[in-house]
Amino acid sequence: MLSTSENGLNARLLLASMQTALDSARESMDTIRDMLATGGGSGEPDEAALAAAIRSVPRWHFAMLNDLERSDAYAVALERVLPPNAHVLDIGSGTGLLAMMVARAGAASVTTCEQNPMLAEVTRQIVAKHGLSDVITVVAKRSVDLVVGVDMPRRADLIVSEIVDCGLIGEGVLPTVEHAREHLLAPGGVLLPESGRVFGALLDSVAVDRLNRVQFAGGFDVGLLNGLATRGHFPVRLNTWPHRVLSPTAELCSFDFARGSAADGSAEVELHAAEDGVAHGMVVWFEMSLGGGIVLRNSPDNLASHWMQAFVPFVEPIELSAGDRVEMLFSWQNCRLSVSKINVSTTMKGMQ
Ligand SMILES: C[S@@+](CC[C@H](N)C(=O)[O-])C[C@H]1O[C@@H](n2cnc3c(N)ncnc32)[C@H](O)[C@@H]1O
Repeated sequence: MLSTSENGLNARLLLASMQTALDSARESMDTIRDMLATGGGSGEPDEAALAAAIRSVPRWHFAMLNDLERSDAYAVALERVLPPNAHVLDIGSGTGLLAMMVARAGAASVTTCEQNPMLAEVTRQIVAKHGLSDVITVVAKRSVDLVVGVDMPRRADLIVSEIVDCGLIGEGVLPTVEHAREHLLAPGGVLLPESGRVFGALLDSVAVDRLNRVQFAGGFDVGLLNGLATRGHFPVRLNTWPHRVLSPTAELCSFDFARGSAADGSAEVELHAAEDGVAHGMVVWFEMSLGGGIVLRNSPDNLASHWMQAFVPFVEPIELSAGDRVEMLFSWQNCRLSVSKINVSTTMKGMQ
């Protein structure tokens, strides 16, 4: 049993919150299942069904599709690395954008899979609208459930995906790509993207910290909520919040999608405060190499990217002086980035 401490949550509260989330997910799934079972009927969907459909599609799809840098990067990289006569697997259709780009680039055939049945149907209709149904087959399945010879004619010569979040690993790219490369990629086949690197710097920002920490509201102590604060990374558009970056940038970890491990891991990292301040966490971003020399990044200076930066919170803010060395364990586990075991070595001012 969890104990009730000042900032802790008792087990009853925790169970209640989990039950609420479960009930809401069940309600959405039931409505979606009913719609699918009846084939959607012949008329307009009723309001409840439409609301469930809308809830099942994350809003970021719109911003993502409006990100011209992302679209151009994928289009150019695909044209550069697509082998001749290729059978291509696109993991995570969304609206079928990458599958259609591959078809336009000259692929012999494309299988595109999508875990969200609503989006799989949207993809089917968009592909048909562009007269590409002969080349592109849409499968409403998670990639890990695909069966070669049933869902796709043979292993793919190229597998393309864009299943990364602001912190690179949050949408499950590591386990998904590892499974795909072992079970769905032909020998010598190409993976796009091919690798990713994650960077970070110490961040002083009361405003960003307040997105995930609270104590008093309206004269009441509501600090119990901090037991539900996010431990892992979450998106922030850094330039919209008052902040100071306290350290130079450091590379935190890197992933080789073609050969590397998808296992959870951690690395000891060291950052140096360049000025006095309070570190509330790290601002983190990625560089993703698609292949063919094309790189996408969501660094704080790239205001055009739809990917925000990631904020990795510290459990408690840390007061720092210029020259202090901050050592910590940076972890990538269960699709989230986090830090622990933070140790600060103080150097005397001016003695760096
Ligand atoms: C970031 S969106 C990209 C959509 C599209 N590929 C594009 O670039 O416009 C990722 C999509 O992949 C789907 N997805 C994520 N992991 C998947 C998996 N393992 N198998 C099938 N679909 C997946 C999500 O539901 C989402 O629609």
